[in-house]
Amino acid sequence: MESVNAGAQGVALQLAQLRYEAHQIVSFELVDPDGRPLPSFTAGAHIDVLLPEARVRSYSLLNDPVETHRYVIAVQRDAAGKGGSIWMHDVPRVGSLMYARPPANDFPLAEAASTSFFLAGGIGITPVLAMVRRLCALGKPWHLVYAARSARHAAFVAELRRLAQAGHGRFDLWLDDERGRPLDIPGTLAEVDAEADVYCCGPKGMIDAFLDAASGRPEARVHYERFGAAGPAATQGGYAVVLARTGQRLSVPAGKTILDVLTENDVDVQYACSSGVCGTCRTIVIEGVPDHRDDYLTEEERQRNDCIMVCCSGSRSAELVLDL
Ligand code: FES
Repeated sequence: MESVNAGAQGVALQLAQLRYEAHQIVSFELVDPDGRPLPSFTAGAHIDVLLPEARVRSYSLLNDPVETHRYVIAVQRDAAGKGGSIWMHDVPRVGSLMYARPPANDFPLAEAASTSFFLAGGIGITPVLAMVRRLCALGKPWHLVYAARSARHAAFVAELRRLAQAGHGRFDLWLDDERGRPLDIPGTLAEVDAEADVYCCGPKGMIDAFLDAASGRPEARVHYERFGAAGPAATQGGYAVVLARTGQRLSVPAGKTILDVLTENDVDVQYACSSGVCGTCRTIVIEGVPDHRDDYLTEEERQRNDCIMVCCSGSRSAELVLDL
């Protein structure tokens, strides 16, 4: 079996099936190479796939959380991205060994909710697919509005229709080209029961509009997951990070993030999304004032200035002392 990515810190998975799901979207079915059960996961969970050159990409698990014989993820090829999705589309082949971290869930389903509404855009459908499967298993009502540019860009539509018919679900597909306009997100959300738990996963513009439209709802019932940061990373440089455990002092030049400088200097730091959304690179700040650019910390956590997402945030002070 040929291994196509790095094995460090990861469990080996064998690529059992690659499947075309929609334009530029391919799904990957990953199994244990020896046929053993895989660590279980809950709806909304993701795995971090370890790519060459120490890159890591998080992909939501879209299969039924009761399954322990496989993980299924889907990847949209992003020609303008940092290269991870292109590698995923071009390199692994059926039979390849790949490496990933065990599942983690930053976007959990509130299973006790009386009703659940989902807004998904493009590849953002993947965690929602696992969530509606779970709600079907629980016999709970759900409503999904899935927006895509055209029928060619919409993945898993037949499966979503089947789930809606089999369970207490309602599935509405919004295709921009057929309607001649994008989905009216405030109008859509205004019609959703005030008691519902509401979820959004999709491109930045959709999530921003969703959060605006949901601002009157209780925070605990509003859930979202971004694939990319809400804003640009801090790359202005001109400051230094001091590693408290070793005393090492590293200058961060213009054009680099703290994470760039840490990895260049072989400092052991965990990271996954590299864009401020997953929380993996959260690091304790001992001294100094971070320039927060992530989309992970709450406003209250930012105000405390006692931790930082080193993949995207910078420093407002000349020096930042980190617990590394
Ligand atoms: S690596 Fe995901 S927030 Fe930094």
